[in-house]
Amino acid sequence: MEHTIADPLGTGRRRVVVTGAGGQLGRALVEAFAGDDVGALGHSDWDVTRPAPKGLEAGLVLHAAAWTDVDAAEGDPQGAAAVNVGGTANAAGLGAPLVYFSSDYVFDGRKGAPYVESDPPNPLSAYGRSKAHGEAAAGEDAWIVRSSWLFGPTGHNFVRAMLRLGREREEVAVVDDQVGAPTYVGHLAEAVRELVELPRGVWHVAAEGECTWFEFASAIFEEARIECRVRPISTEELDRPAPRPAYSVLRSERGEAPRLPHWRDGLRTCLKRLGALT
Ligand SMILES: NC(=O)c1ccc[n+]([C@@H]2O[C@H](COP(=O)([O-])OP(=O)(O)OC[C@H]3O[C@@H](n4cnc5c(N)ncnc54)[C@H](OP(=O)(O)O)[C@@H]3O)[C@@H](O)[C@H]2O)c1
Repeated sequence: MEHTIADPLGTGRRRVVVTGAGGQLGRALVEAFAGDDVGALGHSDWDVTRPAPKGLEAGLVLHAAAWTDVDAAEGDPQGAAAVNVGGTANAAGLGAPLVYFSSDYVFDGRKGAPYVESDPPNPLSAYGRSKAHGEAAAGEDAWIVRSSWLFGPTGHNFVRAMLRLGREREEVAVVDDQVGAPTYVGHLAEAVRELVELPRGVWHVAAEGECTWFEFASAIFEEARIECRVRPISTEELDRPAPRPAYSVLRSERGEAPRLPHWRDGLRTCLKRLGALT
């Protein structure tokens, strides 16, 4: 089924509402949809656990607001669900086509091969459960975009954390027994523009390639020419509150799915934006 996006205000441009517009993906979406009439709503503009601001109109909703602290969700699963499930229901309540961003953490990681859209979710963590329930709250009339290991030039993410730690320390310890596909938010945001011309439903949209966090950290230091040793450790040694899937690479089994560049290309693009590529 083909879809076109409504133009409720008759401006000739789509009215695109971005929730969580201050987050790393939210910012990339605002950039990627700059040719449209974008309403960028940060946390203080709309706490999505509350009903939408009065008079908010949308032809398309890009719902990037979320509780993303995976470990904190273990201690406050209801808080995470209020944002990721209740907040998604409120975003869907705007009545416009909705893009919901979901996660590789809806899978248990035991498949040992890339996950495709038809694989059954089985989240290990409170965060993963909230994201899976959020998929249901987004409703039938949504694009459910599952992606993984997001990073970008702003916000809290692994690349920015490693750049900081690598400059401060001689050695960092990084887990070497979780495999995923680090995805650059700019590449994901561009792919969303393609995706909203495609039928709704579940789509896996993540970078090409795969690596462990240890390999990713090593690549960051290599590309940014930072002299810092990376010591591989196990997930058990790191001892974080939330369990994480050991293997959570996402691939699409849908022929028309947008294809993203390799994670290493995403890394270089991100480092260039940060002025950290030498
Ligand atoms: N990060 C990843 O590795 C990853 C992987 C797969 C999927 N995803 C999904 O991708 C989406 C975007 O993630 P991201 O990495 O861009 O996360 P992010 O940088 O943490 O951004 C999330 C944004 O949501 C806001 N927010 C939190 N609670 C809110 C509320 N109640 N009402 C309104 N806004 C609220 C946050 O604001 P404050 O900072 O003020 O709280 C933040 O600006 C999320 O759905 C996430 O689950 C992320």
